Amino acid sequence: MKRIFSSIIVLSLLGCSDSDNSETIDQKAGLVSDVRTLIEPYQLQGLSQHVANLPNIEQPIAQLGMQLFYAKSLSGNIDTACVSCHHPFLGGGDDLALPIGVDAVEQNLLGPGREHMPSAAHADGGPTVPRNAPSTFNIAFYNKVMFHDGRVESLDTQWALNGSNQSIRTPDSQFNTKDNVAGANLAAAQARFPVTSTEEMRGFNYAAGQSNQVLREQLTSRLKGETNELAHNEWFNAFLNGFEADINDVDINQLITFDNIAFALGEFQRSQILINSPWHNFVEGDDSALTEQQLQGAKLFYTSYENGGFNCASCHSGDFMTDESFHVIAMPQIGRGKGNGLTSDEDFGRFRETNEENDRFAFRTPHLTNIEVTFPYGHSGAFLTLEAVVKHHLNPALSIANYDPTTLQPGLQTNNWLANTEKALHQLTQLQAAGESKLQAVDYTEQQISAVVAFLKAQTDPCVKDQACMSKWVPTREQDVDNTQLVAEFN
Ligand code: HEC
Ligand code: HEC
Repeated sequence: MKRIFSSIIVLSLLGCSDSDNSETIDQKAGLVSDVRTLIEPYQLQGLSQHVANLPNIEQPIAQLGMQLFYAKSLSGNIDTACVSCHHPFLGGGDDLALPIGVDAVEQNLLGPGREHMPSAAHADGGPTVPRNAPSTFNIAFYNKVMFHDGRVESLDTQWALNGSNQSIRTPDSQFNTKDNVAGANLAAAQARFPVTSTEEMRGFNYAAGQSNQVLREQLTSRLKGETNELAHNEWFNAFLNGFEADINDVDINQLITFDNIAFALGEFQRSQILINSPWHNFVEGDDSALTEQQLQGAKLFYTSYENGGFNCASCHSGDFMTDESFHVIAMPQIGRGKGNGLTSDEDFGRFRETNEENDRFAFRTPHLTNIEVTFPYGHSGAFLTLEAVVKHHLNPALSIANYDPTTLQPGLQTNNWLANTEKALHQLTQLQAAGESKLQAVDYTEQQISAVVAFLKAQTDPCVKDQACMSKWVPTREQDVDNTQLVAEFN
């Protein structure tokens, strides 16, 4: 009762300023100038300056990439495609905390309702993939690292934004060592790996026990038509179109290679530029782009703890709102885990790559563009709402004490979630005590949380909520070249 009463007062206080219009305008102008001052040190310039170097979805190579992205023929048992977990209508993800790849009950059903076949290998009633599927939107703007633990990463010391990377390390090469066949950029390098994951695409019997490279060669042979797995097969034509090649100049062995498959997949994803958000317009100079509440949220986001803010930009920095670095923030550890720890359902995060003690339970700072539509959040998809994620950052211990994973996803593995999460929390506390964490617990009000959430919603490009606008990243039925195109169904 008391709570309701005080929020009525707050609302009416906010309402009051409406009665004096000029005061509101002054107040807003003040907020605009406060935010402009706060972001000055970050030298934000907006992301659009980099777009000229990126592929456009109309280009033949991106169209070929789209055909591959939707082709189940890139999975061992021809039952899963990239799009199974990264659909443009689902924010470039799958709307699930944790994905289900191969052996789904209904292959074409994406998002909530997608379940793992009870009779399949590794079936336990829950999701099979141990980490949340990040959005593919705007991945072109990552310069340094891909994946929650950065296991695909640039070794370059200078980054030409969305240009090419000279030197990329992947799980196929040793830590800190260049993978010589990684390809031209991080997206192409990343695209070599989903097919190799048993739970994501490979399946349990296709090229079992074979190296990643042998598996890729088998898939390439399949697309070339050397095996009789595809009854219908027009890939050669699709590759000729995609690479704008002349049939008299190239043969199929030069054209259909796994390097080319990965490159095209990368170009399709790099064409998913969705940056026309209110915040982007504000950064590019439009003072009227944000609401008062969003401006208040921006202030909290860009103000340090010492000055009464939430210090968010110390990690979510720059135009892409990420430092592309790794931090321990102790988000709940749910799901099967990555095979770490005594119970093997832990996920050591960046430590898995570096073996540095400080990296245990550290994960990459994700970018925040279109964050409104890329739920659930965190490396294990533990949070459904932005309110809950923001509160977690401001008081991880309290957030974990209040956390309840039981209704998040059918069959979700949660036996050891609390013990595992408390280990990460313990690690965070130790790092904080040693002065090695940028995260600090602070008091907050519900009003502040709403303001920060409003600011996060100002990162949304309206296109991502509009299926007609997004449909340019969905192939037509005529573009199905081997009758394995995934035509998505949603509950
Ligand atoms: C079964 C679900 C599933 C399928 C199928 C799948 N992915 Fe993913 N994808 C994920 C998950 C989970 C991650 C995060 C894994 C990690 O960080 O360890 C991921 C990560 C990524 C990333 C990195 C994004 C980032 O923010 O770093 C890209 C890019 C990507 N996938 C593209 C693809 C492509 C291309 C394919 C097809 C070749 C594909 N995915 C197939 C689930 C899937
Ligand atoms: C210490 C660095 C750090 C600070 C400070 C920080 N974050 Fe984060 N943030 C992260 C990391 C790391 C993750 C991913 C954690 C994981 O996956 O387990 C994350 C995840 C998120 C996510 C979920 C993104 C997704 O795609 O799942 C949101 C939203 C977010 N942060 C917003 C904020 C806001 C708002 C603030 C300020 C209140 C903030 N962050 C402060 C490092 C930070």
